[in-house]
Amino acid sequence: KSIRAFAPATVANVSCGFDILGFAIDELGDQVEVSLCETPGLRVVNIEGDGGRLPYEADKNTCTVAIQAMLDQLDYKKGMEISLYKGLPLGSGMGSSAASAAAALVAANALLGYPFDKKQLVDFAVKAELIACGAAHADNVAPSLLGGFVLIRDYEPLDVIKLPVPSGLYCTLLHPHLELNTSDSRSVLRKQISLKDSTIQSGNIAGLIAGLFQKDFDLISRSLKDVIAEPTRALLIPGFYELRDAIKSVGALGSGISGSGPTIFVLSPSKKIATAVGTKGSEVFKKIGLDVDVYISEV
Ligand code: HSE
Repeated sequence: KSIRAFAPATVANVSCGFDILGFAIDELGDQVEVSLCETPGLRVVNIEGDGGRLPYEADKNTCTVAIQAMLDQLDYKKGMEISLYKGLPLGSGMGSSAASAAAALVAANALLGYPFDKKQLVDFAVKAELIACGAAHADNVAPSLLGGFVLIRDYEPLDVIKLPVPSGLYCTLLHPHLELNTSDSRSVLRKQISLKDSTIQSGNIAGLIAGLFQKDFDLISRSLKDVIAEPTRALLIPGFYELRDAIKSVGALGSGISGSGPTIFVLSPSKKIATAVGTKGSEVFKKIGLDVDVYISEV
């Protein structure tokens, strides 16, 4: 018996919400097929679409690490075989490791007759993030599992809250052909922030969430700012500030680094503007010699 599941790409942080905000991009993602077998243990038997770069070892692959965390809570004595079909590029900032872990958990949970709900699966998926990048952040795995826009109110224990999204809010993802490891982009972060920056960041997080509830695009736009991670991470992404200026000129609400980058996410108040952002953004990256993939989706 086997089940194949899909889990979507995600935009983590959403500028001001470092490690606590994220949303799903439904059209893009990874697929994982899990089969039950009599031989005990978890085995990755096939990986496609990764250019041969992801590990097959069960204690290193995010699919098996996530499923193992789930099985540790159950009395399951048999084995599972896992095939991973990557739709997402590695090191892109689109939640690639999270989508693999989430799809693996959804498939394994279904095979076992749904012993856990989706929020419980988030607890297992963060174990995979710890292996993938050295930090058990939930802002990719939670929206990948739950869909939509989510807030991680707390980590100990995890408290994941789904947020509403006003209709007509579009996201353009601009993925320059560069790779950044999350662990590297976390290592450039300042370990301490000032009281002033903490106040600015809190105001923007609250403003962004209020903007989602009140369907207020202007408030969302004013709140898409990050004084914590972006100032150091932007230095790793050529063209970051030129891009920000260029997309504002076509009417976008704002932009930021998707997760730990290098993908840039841009929010727009219509599909037309989101499309214009894609064209404008590609021009900026191409001018500095970077090829870019563009994805547009309603949030
Ligand atoms: N919140 C995480 C970070 C997301 O910014 O490092 C990584 O995709």
